[in-house]
Amino acid sequence: MGSFTKAGRATDKDAILSGLAPPVHYYTLIQRCRSLYHGLWFRLSEGLRWSRRPYHETPIGSLSGLAPWQVERIDELQARYAVRFESHYGRHTALANYTYIDILDQAWTAKNRHVPQGLAVTDVGCANFWYARALHAFFRPATLTGIDVEGFRLYPTGYSRYDAACGYIAPLPQTSFVVADYCKVEKQADVITAWYPFVTPSPVLAWRLPLRIFSPARLFDSIALNLTEKGFFFMVNQGTEEAAIAADYCRQAGLRFLDQWIQTRPLRARPHPAVASWWKL
Ligand SMILES: C[S@@+](CC[C@H](N)C(=O)[O-])C[C@H]1O[C@@H](n2cnc3c(N)ncnc32)[C@H](O)[C@@H]1O
Repeated sequence: MGSFTKAGRATDKDAILSGLAPPVHYYTLIQRCRSLYHGLWFRLSEGLRWSRRPYHETPIGSLSGLAPWQVERIDELQARYAVRFESHYGRHTALANYTYIDILDQAWTAKNRHVPQGLAVTDVGCANFWYARALHAFFRPATLTGIDVEGFRLYPTGYSRYDAACGYIAPLPQTSFVVADYCKVEKQADVITAWYPFVTPSPVLAWRLPLRIFSPARLFDSIALNLTEKGFFFMVNQGTEEAAIAADYCRQAGLRFLDQWIQTRPLRARPHPAVASWWKL
Protein backbone atom coordinates (compact mmCIF):
# COMPACT_ATOMS: atom_id res chain seq x y z
CA MET A 1 0.00 0.00 0.00
CA GLY A 2 1.35 3.44 -0.89
CA SER A 3 1.75 6.38 1.40
CA PHE A 4 1.25 10.10 1.10
CA THR A 5 4.64 11.58 1.93
CA LYS A 6 4.73 14.21 -0.81
CA ALA A 7 3.21 17.47 0.44
CA GLY A 8 1.57 19.88 -1.95
CA ARG A 9 0.06 18.87 -5.27
CA ALA A 10 -2.49 16.16 -4.90
CA THR A 11 -3.02 14.19 -8.06
CA ASP A 12 -5.92 11.85 -8.26
CA LYS A 13 -3.55 9.16 -9.52
CA ASP A 14 -1.49 9.20 -6.28
CA ALA A 15 -4.65 8.90 -4.26
CA ILE A 16 -5.72 6.01 -6.44
CA LEU A 17 -2.48 4.10 -6.10
CA SER A 18 -2.46 4.45 -2.35
CA GLY A 19 -5.79 2.82 -1.62
CA LEU A 20 -6.07 5.20 1.33
CA ALA A 21 -7.72 8.60 1.48
CA PRO A 22 -4.88 11.12 1.40
CA PRO A 23 -4.29 13.15 4.58
CA VAL A 24 -5.42 16.77 4.46
CA HIS A 25 -1.88 18.20 4.06
CA TYR A 26 -1.58 16.31 0.79
CA TYR A 27 -4.05 18.51 -1.05
CA THR A 28 -3.25 21.89 -2.63
CA LEU A 29 -4.03 25.04 -0.68
CA ILE A 30 -6.97 25.81 -2.98
CA GLN A 31 -8.37 22.33 -2.54
CA ARG A 32 -8.02 22.63 1.24
CA CYS A 33 -9.73 26.04 1.27
CA ARG A 34 -12.60 24.74 -0.82
CA SER A 35 -12.85 21.68 1.40
CA LEU A 36 -12.95 23.86 4.54
CA TYR A 37 -15.69 26.02 3.05
CA HIS A 38 -17.78 23.02 2.00
CA GLY A 39 -17.11 21.46 5.42
CA LEU A 40 -18.60 24.49 7.18
CA TRP A 41 -21.81 24.27 5.18
CA PHE A 42 -21.89 20.50 5.55
CA ARG A 43 -21.59 20.71 9.34
CA LEU A 44 -24.12 23.52 9.50
CA SER A 45 -26.71 21.66 7.43
CA GLU A 46 -26.20 18.38 9.31
CA GLY A 47 -26.45 20.31 12.61
CA LEU A 48 -29.62 22.15 11.63
CA ARG A 49 -31.22 19.15 9.91
CA TRP A 50 -33.64 21.50 8.15
CA SER A 51 -36.83 19.88 6.98
CA ARG A 52 -40.19 21.39 5.95
CA ARG A 53 -42.23 18.58 4.44
CA PRO A 54 -41.82 16.13 1.56
CA TYR A 55 -41.13 17.99 -1.65
CA HIS A 56 -42.93 16.81 -4.78
CA GLU A 57 -41.87 17.98 -8.21
CA THR A 58 -44.46 19.41 -10.54
CA PRO A 59 -44.91 16.81 -13.28
CA ILE A 60 -44.11 17.96 -16.79
CA GLY A 61 -46.81 15.64 -18.18
CA SER A 62 -45.19 14.94 -21.51
CA LEU A 63 -41.67 15.13 -22.91
CA SER A 64 -41.13 17.23 -26.00
CA GLY A 65 -38.10 18.14 -28.11
CA LEU A 66 -36.61 14.64 -28.21
CA ALA A 67 -35.10 12.95 -31.26
CA PRO A 68 -37.28 10.23 -32.81
CA TRP A 69 -34.88 7.47 -31.66
CA GLN A 70 -35.07 8.80 -28.07
CA VAL A 71 -38.88 8.79 -28.20
CA GLU A 72 -38.80 5.24 -29.51
CA ARG A 73 -36.44 4.09 -26.77
CA ILE A 74 -38.49 5.78 -24.05
CA ASP A 75 -41.63 4.11 -25.43
CA GLU A 76 -39.86 0.75 -25.17
CA LEU A 77 -38.80 1.42 -21.57
CA GLN A 78 -42.29 2.57 -20.63
CA ALA A 79 -43.81 -0.60 -22.01
CA ARG A 80 -41.20 -2.93 -20.49
CA TYR A 81 -41.16 -1.44 -16.99
CA ALA A 82 -44.62 0.15 -16.73
CA VAL A 83 -43.12 3.55 -15.97
CA ARG A 84 -44.06 7.10 -16.97
CA PHE A 85 -41.63 9.31 -15.12
CA GLU A 86 -43.00 12.52 -16.70
CA SER A 87 -46.27 11.94 -14.82
CA HIS A 88 -44.40 12.35 -11.54
CA TYR A 89 -41.45 14.63 -12.19
CA GLY A 90 -40.23 17.67 -14.05
CA ARG A 91 -38.44 17.25 -17.37
CA HIS A 92 -34.92 16.95 -15.96
CA THR A 93 -35.68 14.28 -13.35
CA ALA A 94 -37.97 12.39 -15.71
CA LEU A 95 -35.30 12.18 -18.41
CA ALA A 96 -32.64 11.32 -15.85
CA ASN A 97 -34.78 8.41 -14.59
CA TYR A 98 -35.16 7.14 -18.16
CA THR A 99 -31.40 7.45 -18.53
CA TYR A 100 -30.75 5.28 -15.45
CA ILE A 101 -33.34 2.63 -16.29
CA ASP A 102 -31.96 2.60 -19.85
CA ILE A 103 -28.49 1.84 -18.49
CA LEU A 104 -29.88 -0.95 -16.29
CA ASP A 105 -31.89 -2.42 -19.15
CA GLN A 106 -29.11 -2.20 -21.73
CA ALA A 107 -26.46 -3.58 -19.36
CA TRP A 108 -28.49 -6.59 -18.21
CA THR A 109 -29.72 -7.35 -21.70
CA ALA A 110 -26.29 -7.05 -23.32
CA LYS A 111 -24.76 -9.39 -20.75
CA ASN A 112 -27.76 -11.70 -20.72
CA ARG A 113 -27.87 -11.55 -16.94
CA HIS A 114 -30.82 -12.63 -14.85
CA VAL A 115 -32.46 -9.66 -13.11
CA PRO A 116 -32.97 -10.62 -9.47
CA GLN A 117 -36.31 -9.40 -8.16
CA GLY A 118 -37.96 -9.41 -4.74
CA LEU A 119 -34.69 -8.95 -2.85
CA ALA A 120 -33.27 -6.42 -0.40
CA VAL A 121 -31.58 -3.66 -2.40
CA THR A 122 -29.36 -0.90 -1.01
CA ASP A 123 -28.16 2.04 -3.07
CA VAL A 124 -24.98 3.64 -1.72
CA GLY A 125 -24.52 7.40 -2.18
CA CYS A 126 -28.04 8.01 -3.48
CA ALA A 127 -27.99 11.86 -3.23
CA ASN A 128 -31.69 12.77 -2.77
CA PHE A 129 -32.68 9.44 -4.27
CA TRP A 130 -34.26 11.07 -7.33
CA TYR A 131 -33.81 7.74 -9.20
CA ALA A 132 -35.50 5.52 -6.57
CA ARG A 133 -38.44 5.00 -8.95
CA ALA A 134 -36.16 3.73 -11.74
CA LEU A 135 -34.46 1.27 -9.34
CA HIS A 136 -37.84 0.19 -7.98
CA ALA A 137 -39.24 -0.49 -11.45
CA PHE A 138 -36.19 -2.47 -12.48
CA PHE A 139 -35.49 -4.60 -9.37
CA ARG A 140 -39.04 -4.82 -7.96
CA PRO A 141 -37.30 -5.16 -4.59
CA ALA A 142 -38.62 -6.48 -1.29
CA THR A 143 -36.99 -3.42 0.26
CA LEU A 144 -35.13 -0.51 -1.27
CA THR A 145 -32.85 1.63 0.88
CA GLY A 146 -30.98 4.70 -0.33
CA ILE A 147 -28.13 5.85 1.87
CA ASP A 148 -26.26 9.14 1.65
CA VAL A 149 -23.82 10.85 3.98
CA GLU A 150 -25.33 14.25 3.21
CA GLY A 151 -28.98 14.56 4.08
CA PHE A 152 -29.79 18.16 4.76
CA ARG A 153 -28.26 20.28 2.02
CA LEU A 154 -30.60 23.23 1.56
CA TYR A 155 -31.90 23.86 -1.95
CA PRO A 156 -32.83 27.33 -3.31
CA THR A 157 -36.48 26.22 -3.06
CA GLY A 158 -36.19 26.28 0.74
CA TYR A 159 -36.52 22.50 0.90
CA SER A 160 -33.67 20.24 1.97
CA ARG A 161 -32.26 17.12 0.34
CA TYR A 162 -34.15 15.16 3.00
CA ASP A 163 -37.47 16.79 1.95
CA ALA A 164 -36.74 15.95 -1.70
CA ALA A 165 -35.85 12.34 -0.83
CA CYS A 166 -39.05 11.96 1.22
CA GLY A 167 -41.03 13.20 -1.81
CA TYR A 168 -39.30 10.78 -4.20
CA ILE A 169 -39.77 7.72 -2.02
CA ALA A 170 -43.26 8.51 -0.65
CA PRO A 171 -45.24 6.51 -3.25
CA LEU A 172 -42.78 3.60 -3.41
CA PRO A 173 -43.54 0.62 -1.15
CA GLN A 174 -40.85 -0.58 1.28
CA THR A 175 -38.50 2.22 0.29
CA SER A 176 -36.47 4.35 2.68
CA PHE A 177 -33.86 7.08 2.69
CA VAL A 178 -31.17 6.95 5.37
CA VAL A 179 -28.74 9.74 6.16
CA ALA A 180 -25.54 8.01 7.22
CA ASP A 181 -21.90 7.52 6.39
CA TYR A 182 -22.03 4.17 4.60
CA CYS A 183 -18.54 3.36 5.92
CA LYS A 184 -20.23 2.92 9.32
CA VAL A 185 -23.44 1.23 8.18
CA GLU A 186 -24.14 -2.40 9.05
CA LYS A 187 -27.02 -3.52 6.87
CA GLN A 188 -27.02 -6.71 4.86
CA ALA A 189 -28.36 -6.53 1.29
CA ASP A 190 -28.67 -9.00 -1.58
CA VAL A 191 -28.13 -6.30 -4.16
CA ILE A 192 -25.96 -3.26 -3.52
CA THR A 193 -25.82 -0.59 -6.19
CA ALA A 194 -23.61 2.49 -6.48
CA TRP A 195 -24.01 5.06 -9.24
CA TYR A 196 -20.90 7.14 -9.79
CA PRO A 197 -19.31 6.66 -6.35
CA PHE A 198 -16.40 8.98 -5.53
CA VAL A 199 -13.13 7.19 -6.27
CA THR A 200 -10.96 10.29 -6.78
CA PRO A 201 -10.97 13.48 -4.68
CA SER A 202 -11.78 16.10 -7.36
CA PRO A 203 -15.47 15.17 -7.81
CA VAL A 204 -15.95 15.41 -4.03
CA LEU A 205 -15.19 19.13 -4.19
CA ALA A 206 -17.22 19.51 -7.36
CA TRP A 207 -20.17 18.12 -5.39
CA ARG A 208 -19.48 20.79 -2.73
CA LEU A 209 -18.47 18.29 -0.07
CA PRO A 210 -15.46 18.35 2.29
CA LEU A 211 -12.55 16.05 1.48
CA ARG A 212 -12.79 14.37 4.87
CA ILE A 213 -15.78 12.35 3.61
CA PHE A 214 -13.58 10.87 0.88
CA SER A 215 -12.47 7.41 1.99
CA PRO A 216 -13.13 5.03 -0.90
CA ALA A 217 -11.21 2.10 0.58
CA ARG A 218 -13.48 2.12 3.65
CA LEU A 219 -16.59 2.63 1.52
CA PHE A 220 -15.85 -0.42 -0.63
CA ASP A 221 -14.91 -2.45 2.48
CA SER A 222 -18.38 -1.67 3.84
CA ILE A 223 -20.00 -2.74 0.58
CA ALA A 224 -18.20 -6.08 0.80
CA LEU A 225 -19.12 -6.48 4.49
CA ASN A 226 -22.80 -5.74 3.87
CA LEU A 227 -23.21 -7.96 0.83
CA THR A 228 -24.94 -11.29 1.44
CA GLU A 229 -23.07 -14.39 0.33
CA LYS A 230 -25.32 -14.92 -2.68
CA GLY A 231 -25.72 -11.23 -3.41
CA PHE A 232 -23.95 -8.99 -5.87
CA PHE A 233 -22.70 -5.45 -6.16
CA PHE A 234 -23.63 -3.45 -9.27
CA MET A 235 -21.64 -0.29 -9.92
CA VAL A 236 -21.80 2.40 -12.59
CA ASN A 237 -18.77 4.61 -13.22
CA GLN A 238 -18.03 7.49 -15.46
CA GLY A 239 -15.65 6.30 -18.19
CA THR A 240 -13.17 3.46 -18.28
CA GLU A 241 -10.45 5.27 -16.31
CA GLU A 242 -12.71 5.86 -13.33
CA ALA A 243 -14.06 2.32 -13.65
CA ALA A 244 -10.51 0.92 -13.46
CA ILE A 245 -9.81 2.88 -10.26
CA ALA A 246 -13.09 1.72 -8.75
CA ALA A 247 -12.29 -1.86 -9.79
CA ASP A 248 -9.04 -1.68 -7.80
CA TYR A 249 -10.97 -0.64 -4.71
CA CYS A 250 -13.42 -3.50 -5.26
CA ARG A 251 -10.59 -6.02 -5.46
CA GLN A 252 -8.88 -4.57 -2.39
CA ALA A 253 -12.16 -5.01 -0.52
CA GLY A 254 -12.23 -8.70 -1.48
CA LEU A 255 -14.89 -8.46 -4.17
CA ARG A 256 -14.68 -10.71 -7.21
CA PHE A 257 -15.19 -9.34 -10.72
CA LEU A 258 -18.08 -10.91 -12.63
CA ASP A 259 -18.68 -8.81 -15.72
CA GLN A 260 -18.45 -5.37 -17.29
CA TRP A 261 -20.47 -3.44 -19.85
CA ILE A 262 -19.63 -0.14 -21.54
CA GLN A 263 -22.47 1.97 -22.87
CA THR A 264 -22.14 3.00 -26.49
CA ARG A 265 -25.58 4.51 -27.10
CA PRO A 266 -26.65 6.68 -24.17
CA LEU A 267 -30.16 8.08 -24.07
CA ARG A 268 -28.58 11.43 -23.23
CA ALA A 269 -25.04 12.40 -24.24
CA ARG A 270 -22.40 12.34 -21.48
CA PRO A 271 -18.73 13.31 -21.64
CA HIS A 272 -17.74 9.74 -20.68
CA PRO A 273 -19.58 6.50 -21.30
CA ALA A 274 -21.31 4.80 -18.40
CA VAL A 275 -19.35 1.70 -17.40
CA ALA A 276 -21.37 -0.89 -15.48
CA SER A 277 -19.82 -3.77 -13.58
CA TRP A 278 -21.02 -6.69 -11.45
CA TRP A 279 -19.14 -8.01 -8.40
CA LYS A 280 -19.55 -10.83 -5.87
CA LEU A 281 -17.95 -11.90 -2.61
C1 LIG B 1 -21.15 11.49 -7.47
S1 LIG B 1 -22.44 11.52 -6.32
C2 LIG B 1 -23.59 10.35 -7.05
C3 LIG B 1 -24.98 10.53 -6.55
C4 LIG B 1 -26.02 9.56 -7.09
N1 LIG B 1 -25.60 8.17 -6.94
C5 LIG B 1 -26.35 9.84 -8.56
O1 LIG B 1 -26.13 8.98 -9.41
O2 LIG B 1 -26.88 10.94 -8.84
C6 LIG B 1 -21.82 10.58 -4.94
C7 LIG B 1 -22.75 10.59 -3.75
O3 LIG B 1 -22.15 9.75 -2.76
C8 LIG B 1 -22.39 10.32 -1.48
N2 LIG B 1 -21.38 9.77 -0.56
C9 LIG B 1 -20.05 9.98 -0.58
N3 LIG B 1 -19.45 9.32 0.43
C10 LIG B 1 -20.43 8.66 1.09
C11 LIG B 1 -20.45 7.82 2.24
N4 LIG B 1 -19.35 7.53 2.91
N5 LIG B 1 -21.63 7.31 2.65
C12 LIG B 1 -22.78 7.61 1.98
N6 LIG B 1 -22.82 8.42 0.90
C13 LIG B 1 -21.67 8.94 0.46
C14 LIG B 1 -22.29 11.82 -1.71
O4 LIG B 1 -22.93 12.58 -0.71
C15 LIG B 1 -22.96 11.95 -3.09
O5 LIG B 1 -24.34 12.19 -2.95
